[in-house]
Amino acid sequence: KTRRIALIPGDGIGVEVATSARAVLAALDARHDLGIRIDEFDWSCQRYLDTGALMPPDGLETLRQYDAVLLGAVGWAGVPDHVSLWGLLIPIRRAFSQYVNLRPVRSFAGVTSPLADADNRPIDLVIVRENNEGEYSEVGGRFGRGGPGETAIQEAVFTRRGISRIADYALELASGRDRRVTSATKSNGLVHSMPFWDEVVRERADLRPEVELVEEHVDALAAKLVLRPESFDVIVASNLFGDILSDLAAAVTGSIGIAPSANLDPTGENPSMFEPVHGSAPDIAGKGLANPVGMLWSVVLMLEHLDAGEPAARLMDAIEASLRDPATRTADVGGTASTEQVTAAVLDLLAAD
Ligand code: NAI
Ligand code: MG
Repeated sequence: KTRRIALIPGDGIGVEVATSARAVLAALDARHDLGIRIDEFDWSCQRYLDTGALMPPDGLETLRQYDAVLLGAVGWAGVPDHVSLWGLLIPIRRAFSQYVNLRPVRSFAGVTSPLADADNRPIDLVIVRENNEGEYSEVGGRFGRGGPGETAIQEAVFTRRGISRIADYALELASGRDRRVTSATKSNGLVHSMPFWDEVVRERADLRPEVELVEEHVDALAAKLVLRPESFDVIVASNLFGDILSDLAAAVTGSIGIAPSANLDPTGENPSMFEPVHGSAPDIAGKGLANPVGMLWSVVLMLEHLDAGEPAARLMDAIEASLRDPATRTADVGGTASTEQVTAAVLDLLAAD
């Protein structure tokens, strides 16, 4: 069996953590005979500056031939962030119906949470973010540019199909965990979209009585994620709410540098995409300071998705062990190690395994 992976390092520290992922995948492939074939694509803001496009016109067709896409991060000075997002990430997520953005968040021994008393209340939650519709939409426009009445209208698009399938995914996931789904809403302020969201989520939850559904306004939910993060199991949220909550949840456990994500087409008809939650981090790019854990944990999610559960578990063990040791932690998690040193430590742990 071969497993074909399209690797898009992207910009900034995306390139640095992609190097780490490549080394780890090569080691796992040699050890477990996974048939991994990696092709690398230079699609990035640099490519945009050189050619006027982040990816070639047939980019999506090219990716379609792969079993998975692994992405570092895109975003760089000189290219507005909405151009880089809509020029690469969002087209991939939508063309391949990657409607689930899965973002697991948990505590690790050795990673200090900014919360007091965090050691006594381990965090272990998953954010299921709707990834294909919602607030991230091109519907709307800017009117009366520069004039005193200038107005911007940004529409959100919610569909019954879109809400149903993300709710079903979250409910199914929760039924194998602590059987609790918290749905992020804001039906007091958003009078069309969120009451609809609530209604459809409730309908789907009624079909799974074994899972408890809790509805929380997203502002109160954000506060509770800071005050009692250990109380959550699965959180289901719209595109924008899920985006915000997942950075928050990751920061509460210690660092955004360790957070992974999977953009999944659960039907398996299209390739899914795996990427760390963090961006290209221009402030630390080129210095060897990037924490590769968010990327390597994304590789774990990718291997699980590609039916390689055993090597995925070995890699997760190695990541955990590297985080326990202060000598093999990067600065964002209280260490002094470089990206390369963390990678070397993970490779050693895998070899000793
Ligand atoms: P960012 O995640 O790149 O950085 C936020 C802060 O976290 C910075 O201080 C950075 O140094 C730190 N940080 C992030 N990842 C880290 C890691 N692995 N190790 C250690 N420290 C880490 O977010 P920011 O600054 O808002 O965005 C920078 C660029 O990245 C922008 O162009 C943005 O559009 C893009 N971006 C791309 C994403 C993607 O490709 N999926 C996601 C988020 C942002
Ligand atoms: Mg984000």
